[in-house]
Parts: sequence; C-alpha cells; structure tokens
Amino acid sequence: MAKKCEFKSLPDSNLERRRNLSFDFLYPEFEVPKYLKEFAQGKKYFIFTFGCQANHRDSEIMGGLLEKAGFSQTFSEKDADLIILNTCAVRENAEQKVFGKIGNLLHLKKSKPELLIGVCGCMVQQKHIIEYINEKFKHVDLIFGTHNSTDLLLLLNDVITKRIRLIDVKSIPGDIVENLPSSRESKFKAFVNISYGCDKFCTYCIVPYTRGKERSRKMKDILDEVQELKNNSYKEVTLLGQNVNAYGKDFNDGTTFAKLLEEVAKIGIPRVRFLTSHPWDFSSELIEVIAKYDNIMKYIHLPVQSGSDEILHLMGRRYTRDQYIALAKEIKTKIPDVALTTDIIVGFPNETYEQFLDTVSLCREVHYDSAFTFIYSPRNNTPAAKIKDNVPSAEKVKRFKELVKALEEDITKHSENMIGKVYDILVEGPSEKNPEMLSGYTEKNKLVHFKGGINLVGQIVKVKILESHTYSMIGELVNE
Ligand code: SAH
Ligand code: SF4
Ligand code: F3S
Repeated sequence: MAKKCEFKSLPDSNLERRRNLSFDFLYPEFEVPKYLKEFAQGKKYFIFTFGCQANHRDSEIMGGLLEKAGFSQTFSEKDADLIILNTCAVRENAEQKVFGKIGNLLHLKKSKPELLIGVCGCMVQQKHIIEYINEKFKHVDLIFGTHNSTDLLLLLNDVITKRIRLIDVKSIPGDIVENLPSSRESKFKAFVNISYGCDKFCTYCIVPYTRGKERSRKMKDILDEVQELKNNSYKEVTLLGQNVNAYGKDFNDGTTFAKLLEEVAKIGIPRVRFLTSHPWDFSSELIEVIAKYDNIMKYIHLPVQSGSDEILHLMGRRYTRDQYIALAKEIKTKIPDVALTTDIIVGFPNETYEQFLDTVSLCREVHYDSAFTFIYSPRNNTPAAKIKDNVPSAEKVKRFKELVKALEEDITKHSENMIGKVYDILVEGPSEKNPEMLSGYTEKNKLVHFKGGINLVGQIVKVKILESHTYSMIGELVNE
C-alpha cells in the first residue's frame, strides 16, 4: 500500500513574486537527527543534478549534509539507497528530462522497495508540477524546494521515522545559511555562491519565481570560503549568482561586485571566473578590475537574448541594442583580447523575421567566442507565456539553425586563430571520447584535447594548439 502523504507546505504564486519579505543570515551549529544517523550507516546516496551551476552547488551542499549524517556517495543508481533528483525548470525540455528520469526510477524502486527517492530544485517550486508528480509518481518519497534544501536531513528524518511521503516546498526566500558542509564535485575547480535569487523578472524567465528574491552573501563569508579553497590548493573559483553584477546592492552600503571581485582576486587562486553578468548592472569599475588582475579570466559571459529593441523591450531586459553594443565595445577596448560569450533566445512570442535578423546582425557585430542558443519555451505564470504567439514552431527551428550557423562562423574563426599558439590549460581529466587523451580548458574556456599523463589532472600546463574544430581543439604538451 502506498505510504500516506503529508503536505507540509506548497508553493504560493503570490508569495514568490513578492520582494519585501525578510530573511536571516544563519550560522547554525551542525546537528544530525539521532535516528537518521543510525539509519544512514552503510547507506549510499546518489544525487542527479539538472540545470545550472546554482543547482550543482546546491547538490554539493546536500551531498555534504548527507555525508555528515553518515551516507556515502555512489555514482551508480543501482547501488544507491537514496536517490535525489535536483531539477531545472528553465525550459520545457529540461522538465521533460526530469519526468523521464522519475519514470525510469519506478522499476528500481519495485526491485528495492526500501529505496528512498527525493525530488527537489526549481521544477518543484511550481504547484502544478508537485500535483502531477504526486498523482503520477507515487514512488517519490520526498519533495522539497530551493528554499529549504539545507533542511534536507530534518526532512529525511521525518520521512523515515514517520514512514510517510512528505511534500515541503516554500515560496518565502530561504535564509542565507553559512557553515554548511559540502562535498565538492572537483578537487581543483570550485563554485562559490555570492548571491541567491533574481530580481530582474525578465518576462520569459521562471528563475525569479523558483529562486526568489535576490539575496547577497556577506563579503566576509565569501572571502573566507575562497581563502579555504586557496589553502586547499584549488586552481579555479567561479563566483555564482543569477546576476553577479547586482551583488551587494541589497546592503545599501556601497558594496559592489567590482569590490568583491577585487578582494577575491587578491587571495590569489590562479583562475577567477564569475557567472552570470546582466548587461544592465555591468559597471566601468568592474571592467577596470577585470583588466587589472591577471588571475581574473578575460572571459565574460554577457547574455544578450535578442538584438531587436522591440523584443528586448518585451523581454524586460532594460537595455537597448545600442547600449549592449556600446558595453561590448567598452569591454573590448579596456580588456584587449577578451572573450565574450552570450545566451540568445530565438522565437520570442510574435518575433518577426526582421527582428530575428537584428539578432543575427548583432552577433556579427560583436563576434562572440561562443554562445548558448535556445528556442523560446513558455514558462508557467510568466508574463511572456500569456502573449498569444503567431510564430509556428517549424519557423522557430529554422531561425534557430540559421542563427547557429552565423555564430559558428565567428566561433570557428576564433578557434582557427589559436592554431600554432601556446595556451595555459587547466587539466580536467581523461577525454570523454578518447580516454587516451587528456582534456582541459584554456583561460577563455576553450576545450583542448592532448596526450599526457594522468598525473597532470588538476594542474595548469602549457599546450600548443595543432588543430581546431568549432567547439574543441587538439594540441600537444609543451615542455617548459
Ligand atoms: N541568470 C542568468 C541565467 C538565466 S537562465 C542570466 O540572466 O543570464 C539561462 C538562459 O536560459 C538565459 O540566459 C536565457 O537565454 C535562457 N532562458 C531563460 N528562460 C527561457 C525560456 N523561457 N525559454 C528559452 N530560454 C530561456
Ligand atoms: Fe532570468 Fe533575467 Fe533573472 Fe537571468 S536576469 S535569471 S534571465 S530573470
Ligand atoms: Fe534551471 Fe533553476 Fe538554474 S530553473 S537554470 S536550475 S536557477
């Protein structure tokens, strides 16, 4: 018989829009519920992460909490006693992948009834998704949201001791909880949150609803985390926020992202990166800091979304095409040889072919080093989803392909320019396609494959580029 389901809290669309709700900074003493500690002995967890870096970082923290409780990590679903799916809601295809995965887990649960399955992350911040999962997938034991993932151990303890299924998804902004354990995915590359949530409310985007109000972490807590990474010989740190450039605005004390970035650079980790920059908040002060420090990577991801003023206005992006191009030019002038990358949405409701061509021409003007391109996907409860759309999906696919082709011309040129030159590569590990080769990234995030010993993983080495493909290069190690 299916277990009883307890609804502790459900998302509330009125609350998730509000920005005047308060939150706290918490520095808890760590405690594992006693029963859970006994339960976790000898048991294994597997976290499957969809979506962006914010989700990956949340999964690392959930992993850290589970390991404190006594679980150990496994990368095999079959070996796991607890499987958590950390989900993404940004586009419909992201959600379809999750439903597919949840469905697949049913046969595993049938062969191992004691297996616990949890679903968390952005997707379950939507009430209709929770209702769907609850109705269709009774093998899910626990559903919790982005605002209470740090309560994972308490939630699990309830599921186990009360023998229930539990749903607890809040829409109030989560507190900023410090001093949490974490099980990092890499021993040499790390993500560090600097802010949570987003207040931009671009009309197509679900993130402000699933992640809530923009909240900055205190500068001291961020710097302490980066210093600890430096002490542990990390080679790369990426500062994370939905809009890093808005960092510190909520303190109203003159704190800026530029000041934070400078302090992070001074700690001296060899590679400092940041994601994502909204063009609206990109200050000249920030450009100068990036230019000044060698260890701040000259690689800036600057989502443009569209090159048409009308569409940018409908998207609520708060800049015009000319303002974006002017910013890109200022960046390129003050940071010579900078790599610019972007995100673009094709087929926003009622986008005309001429408006689409404005996007193509903007790309040809900016000469991006790389780009993520997406076909617009209506998201529940967002303003854009209410617009009646007259563009057929086949037309959107056609434009999408046309845009990718235009972008690839520039991307290929950037890659061809690298042939014969020597680059610093942070070695990731064996190449996925050919385990006899190593793979790593240049300072500007180009993927390079080359022959070398496994002892080089986690090191920064010099590699000469021999051959270029659009999205990756082949090179050879240079002996210093
Ligand atoms: N905060 C970041 C990342 C947001 S999500 C930023 O503002 O850049 C990453 C990308 O997904 C966005 O830049 C956008 O290009 C794309 N995206 C967001 N909502 C979308 C939607 N409804 N349909 C298609 N793409 C979308
Ligand atoms: Fe979404 Fe816009 Fe916020 Fe990025 S800045 S997360 S696209 S609302
Ligand atoms: Fe997806 Fe949530 Fe990130 S919707 S892109 S996982 S913030």
